Amino acid sequence: MGEVLALLGGEPVRGGEKAWPVWPVFDRSEEAAVLSVLRSGKWWYGEEVAAFEREFAAFQDAKYCVSCSNGTVALEIVLQALGIGPGDEVLVPPYTFVATASAVMRVGATPVFVDVDASWCLDVEQVAAAVTPRTKALMPVHFGGRVCDMERMRSVAVAHGLVLIEDACHSWGSKWQGKGTGALGRCGVFSFQHSKNITSGEGGAIVTDDEELADLCRSIANCGRGKDGPWYYHVNIGTNARITEMQGALLRAQLSRLESQTVHRERNGQYLDAALGAIAGLTPQAGDTRITRRAYHLYCLHLDAARFGCSRAQFIRAAEAEGLTVSAGYPITLCEQPAIQKFYAAQGRELPLCPVAHDLSHSGGMWLLHAQLLGSEEDMEDVVAIVEKIQAHAASIPA
Ligand SMILES: Cc1ncc(COP(=O)(O)O)c(C=O)c1O
Repeated sequence: MGEVLALLGGEPVRGGEKAWPVWPVFDRSEEAAVLSVLRSGKWWYGEEVAAFEREFAAFQDAKYCVSCSNGTVALEIVLQALGIGPGDEVLVPPYTFVATASAVMRVGATPVFVDVDASWCLDVEQVAAAVTPRTKALMPVHFGGRVCDMERMRSVAVAHGLVLIEDACHSWGSKWQGKGTGALGRCGVFSFQHSKNITSGEGGAIVTDDEELADLCRSIANCGRGKDGPWYYHVNIGTNARITEMQGALLRAQLSRLESQTVHRERNGQYLDAALGAIAGLTPQAGDTRITRRAYHLYCLHLDAARFGCSRAQFIRAAEAEGLTVSAGYPITLCEQPAIQKFYAAQGRELPLCPVAHDLSHSGGMWLLHAQLLGSEEDMEDVVAIVEKIQAHAASIPA
């Protein structure tokens, strides 16, 4: 590879004429769906929302789905519905979006951090050791769409009498041994925020096979109203987390192409795993043959700077110049977030180190976004060509 890095004035692998897919993807089905709701004059929590809930429950292989305003609120609602509160502990990973832990603190319980492993998900070996008499729930995150080892998670939950709540906010369509995420534990929570693989700008959902839990979540999300009770009669302490008919209609249209997009991303993810995994110093997020459908929300890659030949910051700068945007992901772990440190200090507790998550945040973790995985075979070949070019010239990248 005699060429010069684009960062140093050479020709980029991808010139400006080659665009990456943009997100969100929408077409006339979203336009028609939203317009039809607009013209109907029925904008509030009705048939479109109910239809989306039925369709999404079926898509995730669950019996019930309760929609709500976002994934954060969905987590708070399930925790409240499950009676988790002050004095209780919930085991969570430290490498995730803050909501996984903040929802636990918002209901007054304590998130207890257990490190992740090469799957970028909770290290199941360490989960059992972290259980105390106060532990009430286990809340794995299917990080980037990669399903956690649910067989082992279930056995830890059963052995210790814990509730298994899936933070499935990255894993619409992922399946473990043929069954959808969210339906693998007691319940699962999804996000439909703008960056997610189906979106209505904001939005969330809880799925479960437990009718009583679904009814309670719906009540909490609907101001505490009873199932069939009078309108101004409130049987639970609830909130208003309802979504609108426009969101329901948008989500139905988004859901109609989710399966084919998921298959497309999975094919590209597998191609990148083989090609990038063969490059010294790069390790794709570890998979598992029991994952029978893997939804990629993120394509996760670990960089060992010493073996690859340059640091993550150098890699990202060089990739950007070649026409590939790579994210460094979460810059700090949840154990380093000021809000969580204050919460722990107030309880006189110490946060653990979680070295794997620390390495992912501070030096090794990199993400491609799911929209990039909607690219063509040629786009994926460009990704590999860019990474190979960076490695060949790693020593010349300015610090
Ligand atoms: C793992 C995880 N959990 C929960 C959430 C919260 O979802 P929302 O943004 O819809 O509140 C997110 C959002 O990015 C997430 O990534």
